[in-house]
Amino acid sequence: MKKLYIETVGCQMNLLDSELVVAALRKEGYELTGQAADADTVLFNTCSVRQHAEDKIYSALGRLKEAKRSMPDKVIGVMGCMAQKDQKLIFSRAPFVDIVVGPGQLHQVPQLVREAREKPGQQRLEVSLGRTDGKVDDIKRSHESFDPLRDPTMRPTPFQAFVRIQIGCDKFCTYCIVPSVRGPEQSRPPSHILAEARQLASEGCKEICLLGQTVNSWRHTEDGRAWRFSDLLYALHEVEGIERLRFVTSYPRDMTDDVLEAVRDLPKCVKYLHVPAQHGSDEQLRRMKRGYTVAEYREMHDRAKRWMPDVAITSDFIVGFSGETEEDFQQTMDLVRECRFKNSFIFKYSERPGTKAANRLPDDVPEEVKRRRNNELLALQNEISEEDNHKFLGKRVEVLVEGPSKTAVRNLERADANAPLTGPLQLTGRTMCDRIVVFDGNPRQIGQTLSIAIYDVNLHTLFGAVVTEHVGPEVFTLAGV
Ligand code: 5AD
Ligand code: SF4
Repeated sequence: MKKLYIETVGCQMNLLDSELVVAALRKEGYELTGQAADADTVLFNTCSVRQHAEDKIYSALGRLKEAKRSMPDKVIGVMGCMAQKDQKLIFSRAPFVDIVVGPGQLHQVPQLVREAREKPGQQRLEVSLGRTDGKVDDIKRSHESFDPLRDPTMRPTPFQAFVRIQIGCDKFCTYCIVPSVRGPEQSRPPSHILAEARQLASEGCKEICLLGQTVNSWRHTEDGRAWRFSDLLYALHEVEGIERLRFVTSYPRDMTDDVLEAVRDLPKCVKYLHVPAQHGSDEQLRRMKRGYTVAEYREMHDRAKRWMPDVAITSDFIVGFSGETEEDFQQTMDLVRECRFKNSFIFKYSERPGTKAANRLPDDVPEEVKRRRNNELLALQNEISEEDNHKFLGKRVEVLVEGPSKTAVRNLERADANAPLTGPLQLTGRTMCDRIVVFDGNPRQIGQTLSIAIYDVNLHTLFGAVVTEHVGPEVFTLAGV
């Protein structure tokens, strides 16, 4: 057995990409290790959305320099968005790196690792064409990622799976590097998506999470039929065995009535929408080239809440983007106060070379102002998230049990990894509105949908106990295990 160490940063796309690479390398006789130092192959799956994510990878690479010197046949690879963006620069900043592979070439990783081991000393670079490096079709083809069917043991849990329905992005928000590193927007044909979903269901998968940078912009014409995203949701809903359908990330302008209706009317659709607003000021949205006004975002948000009062909506926000005044920032605070998002991911603007903003809009908000605005917005969002979680106290929720809780995982890691999973165990899962629930249970309950009574909450988590129903009067007992 050879040992593989893999570190993944970034979005769900990257998680899925890493999962596929791990699955492919397992077939080649690799097993995962938590230690980079004694691994035969070390891979980093990288993100370029913010400078910070890149800095982390370069310093992790720096720490491997010595390990590579003492173990020269260790293969070191950099994959994903930073590989596509920096290409040869990675070899000059970290000369001991053996392979650099873009997100569109990940299927080549096993072969590249093999070659690097057989012929050490030759660096290998496999990336896609840039957005202006050729004809659109050639560029598209060079980004195409193929998602092989995985056997269930190769997914993090056998009853949950990501399904990629779209790659790339054509929105070109001025601050964003994604369109250049992930290439043109391409929608996967519905027949392929449905085939993958059916295969997953036949293997016992219960929850599917559809992935795309602007997932609800998915559309595809196949055999003369024009499919909208909502049509795909209806079709996937028919797949027997699938109990839950979720999707990320949505683009506000494409959150059309038919999509909201599908989420509302289809019982398997998780009542959760991640629709980043990015800002609460029209001037900032215009500079970001987001393609909608704050009033339009609000209207979409209110429509979703009106049609589905229990829907959980989350957002992303950027603070300190070019030209952001205190007044602009306060408008973001107002939007968060009004929309009461379940959660918001808040980012300080990070200038990305090659984007429109880097070329035309000065990064003119001082770092300490960005930090202060970030903290202020986060404090407001945290207050809202905690208040809203309090509404769950004393209520029952339906939870699809995902596995051991983070605490339980830490304890298991300390214990004997080969010991069978039996006895009481703290578990975690999610509600239909995407709340994380932690409760005491046992390993047999993993993968089941359970009724949980909530007795405590904090900012991010609901704590509860399994409800055991009794036929008869209105009583229920709380059963820990
Ligand atoms: N700086 C800061 N945040 C960014 N995001 C994207 N690009 C940048 C950038 N240059 C944020 C957006 C996006 C999330 C994934 O990352 O909020 O929705
Ligand atoms: Fe980036 Fe905008 Fe595309 Fe999202 S929609 S990936 S923020 S360019």
